[in-house]
Amino acid sequence: MGKRKIRVAVTGVGNCASALIQGIEYYRHHPAEDLGLMHRELGGYLPEDLDIVAAFDVDRRKVGRPLQEAVLAPPNCIRPIWPNLPDYGVLVQMGPVLDGVAPHMREFPPERTFVVADEEPVAVDGVLKETRADIMVNYLPVGSGEATRYYAGCCLRAGVSLINCMPEFIASDPAWARQFEEKGIPLIGDDIKSQVGATIIHRVLARLFEERGAKIQRTYQLNTGGNTDFLNMLERNRLINKKISKTAAVQSQLSTPLADEDIHIGPSDYVPWQGDNKVCFLRIEAVNFCGVPLELEARLSVQDSPNSAGVVIDAIRFCQVARNRGEAGVLLPASAYLMKHPPRQMAEDEARRLLEAYLTDRGRDPRPVV
Ligand SMILES: NC(=O)c1ccc[n+]([C@@H]2O[C@H](COP(=O)([O-])OP(=O)(O)OC[C@H]3O[C@@H](n4cnc5c(N)ncnc54)[C@H](O)[C@@H]3O)[C@@H](O)[C@H]2O)c1
Repeated sequence: MGKRKIRVAVTGVGNCASALIQGIEYYRHHPAEDLGLMHRELGGYLPEDLDIVAAFDVDRRKVGRPLQEAVLAPPNCIRPIWPNLPDYGVLVQMGPVLDGVAPHMREFPPERTFVVADEEPVAVDGVLKETRADIMVNYLPVGSGEATRYYAGCCLRAGVSLINCMPEFIASDPAWARQFEEKGIPLIGDDIKSQVGATIIHRVLARLFEERGAKIQRTYQLNTGGNTDFLNMLERNRLINKKISKTAAVQSQLSTPLADEDIHIGPSDYVPWQGDNKVCFLRIEAVNFCGVPLELEARLSVQDSPNSAGVVIDAIRFCQVARNRGEAGVLLPASAYLMKHPPRQMAEDEARRLLEAYLTDRGRDPRPVV
């Protein structure tokens, strides 16, 4: 497409990073295929225009290993998409552990959990500069607040954009957002909204009920899975922001938010044999015409990590388009469409319309007034 490649760094070489990297190879080898993509071409970029130039982790089975081996190393348990990966010439480097590894994770057998490497961390901002990264994708475990702030600070110092895929609030924290804006760096966040996942289905259904005059009275969304993301989330203290992010994503679609006791959304249990298969059980209780009751039950079964990669592959390209246009600060429509916890929630169709208008080039980010 005549543009230079997008130079991407990832932190957290877990299942989601693996899905993204295998997915890039999958589409590189299927050049005519747009199956499973929201955009084959976005702003002049194809999926295979993403080059991973740096990767950080803390697990001894990944640190110091070539990236193509690390993405397939345990405890990653993603179902293979394109496991025959080339040599990227990238070794996974040791990041600072900080709060990335929760104490309870150490109680499980190594094939199911993180095993911390005995290495000194590198200076991540220095590596970002040396590798001339454009964008960092944050894939740290839920609850890694300190570690996320460390990597976000490195991005600021290195002039690198951040795609914050997890529920620590950077894009949606005005103080952090301002710092990126002042440095002239665009970012997208927070907490990736999967392609067809529990959040978007719950949001769209909530909106549908609302628009059709059915008053939701109670709802839940229970999720189970067997990957390290779910194992990590057994520690409820780490879940506070995840619950805020997932609950606000649904509440924002209702004209009158439900009382706290009438909405329950969250990761609910770790079932080891499920591996990367996430199952969501969703229930909505409502009343419609003349107060007559209505109930909806849905069950969604997905491979969790590819479901997020299908969105990250667009987030990275949107962000690069914004970099090329000299935008700075939070990209609002992109964050609203692609993330669960943007600084400002929008309905899916509104965010999508604004994004597509941005791509067909009105020249500037059509950011609405916050
Ligand atoms: N559909 C989805 O899978 C989805 C959707 C929304 C959000 N997310 C979020 O994306 C994040 C990544 O998910 P995942 O399934 O890849 O998780 P994962 O558990 O497979 O991977 C996390 C990786 O981070 C590494 N790590 C831990 N501490 C670190 C540190 N200080 N520095 C660098 N690396 C560190 C671990 O060793 C591991 O490789 C999670 O927070 C998850 O909740 C995922």
